[in-house]
Amino acid sequence: MTDTSSVDVQTTPPDVKDLKDWRFEIDFEDIAWAVFDRQGESMNSLGHRPTLELASIISKVEDAADKGEVRGLVIISGKDNFIAGADIREFDNLGDTEQVAEAVTATIDLFDRIEKLRVPVVAAIHGYCLGGGLELAMACHYRIADREEGTRLGFPEVKLGIFPGLNGTVRSIELAGAMSAMQMMLTGRMLRPGPARAIGIVDQLVPTHHRLRWAARKAVLQKRKSKGAAWWKKLLRKAPFREFLVKQMRKKTAEKVREDHYPAPFKLIELFSEFGDSRRRMKAAETRLFAPLMTSDTARNLRRVFRLTEMLKSEAPKGTFEPLRVHVVGAGTMGADIAAWCVVCGMQASLQDLNDDQLKKAMVRAKNLFKKRFRTKRDVDAAVARLISDKDGKHIARADVIIEAIVEKLEIKQKVFADLETKIRPGAVLATNTSSLKIEDIAQSLKDPARLIGLHFFNPVPQLPLVEVIMGAGSREAEVRKGCAFVTAIRKFPLIVKSCPGFLVNRVLAPYMLDAVRRYQEGEPREKIDQAALNFGMPMGPLELCDVVGLDICKHVAETLGLGPVADSELDRLVVNGKLGKKTGEGFYVWEKGKPKRQKVSFDEDDLVTLGRDLVKPLIDECERALSERIVESADHVDAGVIFGTGFAPFRGGPLHYRNRDKRAAEAA
Ligand SMILES: NC(=O)c1ccc[n+]([C@@H]2O[C@H](COP(=O)([O-])OP(=O)(O)OC[C@H]3O[C@@H](n4cnc5c(N)ncnc54)[C@H](O)[C@@H]3O)[C@@H](O)[C@H]2O)c1
Repeated sequence: MTDTSSVDVQTTPPDVKDLKDWRFEIDFEDIAWAVFDRQGESMNSLGHRPTLELASIISKVEDAADKGEVRGLVIISGKDNFIAGADIREFDNLGDTEQVAEAVTATIDLFDRIEKLRVPVVAAIHGYCLGGGLELAMACHYRIADREEGTRLGFPEVKLGIFPGLNGTVRSIELAGAMSAMQMMLTGRMLRPGPARAIGIVDQLVPTHHRLRWAARKAVLQKRKSKGAAWWKKLLRKAPFREFLVKQMRKKTAEKVREDHYPAPFKLIELFSEFGDSRRRMKAAETRLFAPLMTSDTARNLRRVFRLTEMLKSEAPKGTFEPLRVHVVGAGTMGADIAAWCVVCGMQASLQDLNDDQLKKAMVRAKNLFKKRFRTKRDVDAAVARLISDKDGKHIARADVIIEAIVEKLEIKQKVFADLETKIRPGAVLATNTSSLKIEDIAQSLKDPARLIGLHFFNPVPQLPLVEVIMGAGSREAEVRKGCAFVTAIRKFPLIVKSCPGFLVNRVLAPYMLDAVRRYQEGEPREKIDQAALNFGMPMGPLELCDVVGLDICKHVAETLGLGPVADSELDRLVVNGKLGKKTGEGFYVWEKGKPKRQKVSFDEDDLVTLGRDLVKPLIDECERALSERIVESADHVDAGVIFGTGFAPFRGGPLHYRNRDKRAAEAA
């Protein structure tokens, strides 16, 4: 990755002979080929210099087309992806709304010139074709994609707090119709080539990328042009159909996110609602609505979250440790899901437990997960075959990673590890999923205690993106890095945390949850507490979260962390009475059909705002303490861990970022 400080500030398009990010040639059949291959990058993204260079190419093709020297243009990639989107690293350099509008207008003009070229223009797509990359492809006259596994098309912009701003809103509706196009933009979902062809954003498919050049050449010679959406799909842009669609979209979007937290999808609906039936007006309004979104706090914070994900992924050394086989000891809640998830990610997993019934239950649960994750029976069967029930631990010696997830008892874990150490192969990662024991204590039974690390997964494993990689007092750095490589290989984010009670995530969650319990005990209605947290942007209220985690576990964690007094509290009373939350049907709430029964009451909005801020205060205080103790490397690591481990309002950019902004605002006032 280049850093933003090195962004090229050149403003005039270079000569096509001096391109750095593109290769350009006109072949013996008079077909022009623009091959995008960004210099010094593993992925193609559309930044300032590539766009300027593309402008040179287009000028050249315009000129050649006028003179009858070229029969068409093919835009293709020289890398494994077509274009993964606009270059996010440059977004923050754009400054204010006017500068954003100016920058996007220049690119929109370029795309319009592509659309107006007198010769056929074909986009030949392999790999990711996302965001600005898809907008460029849509400005071409015809799109061919290969059917390969990694090829995906989509508009992920809403995840960054914006919507497509290079006229992708207009063109996608023209190609796919309002229903499919809006759905694609509102959800940010990526489409495989088949569905992309079915909705009309791709015109032709070829089996592999080897066929792309030939198919593109043929499309140019035959002057193929996309047909656009069917007539009945075009009708949906007109009243009264449009109003009906808009109503449905608003309702569905509001069910998922709040407008004050994530305004982009609502602005996109507004754009379609007001200007959806006019290409010219929608094009103009797109930039007007897009520019303020781009400079909003929400978008800046979501870009920050994106950068945090990149930071976590970079903890893993590339290519040095590529695990294929995992052995999990303990087939309970955590172990069964960890093994199944590794299989979902393509690995082979063996699962060991003392108890046959646990193993059988784990296999059934895993199959259900595979059915959800894989589309074909063949893939499900292959996954089932990769998960091995291994009561006697016969596969230990072959595993690259061994994870222990048995009962939380020090002596039992020590015994298990002493035995494992005699069986594992050199170089294999040895890890425990303990949530409250010290790694260095467990490691005492090992001949090589520096080998042991923690891999702390969160429940439910398939859904939660973070794994804390725990560095015990004596753990070897190399083992920790291999742990990170493993976590990245199973498509999760690794966060390196020093061994300490509660690690990072549970440590900051516990005071937040206990403070909510205290407020409830002092008379604040539980619905008000949970609503205030939701309004703040937490994924779930703290009392509902207590019920979901289990009140016995909450109590245990509180005691482990020395957060007291828990005795005599409402938490203790409920536990003593066997009301453990969701799993027993009652805790702070009564649970029916997996949902808490809430009283229908409404509260003053300002009160909720104040309460929301107060509720997260203990969590942020604890984040500051954790940072001062350096249990993770930096404030960014705290923010990343808390966002991905607790769901802390991503649009606020993380707890410490949020507090620092507040502090700066107070100083400025
Ligand atoms: N449950 C959670 O939410 C959660 C979250 C993070 C970490 N953890 C940690 O993960 C570990 C497992 O927790 P869990 O909730 O899955 O427990 P669990 O009680 O659901 O499962 C433990 C399993 O280990 C098996 N077992 C016990 N001793 C064994 C041995 N010597 N050899 C093989 N199998 C043995 C048991 O039969 C049982 O199936 C604990 O260390 C816990 O602290 C739990």
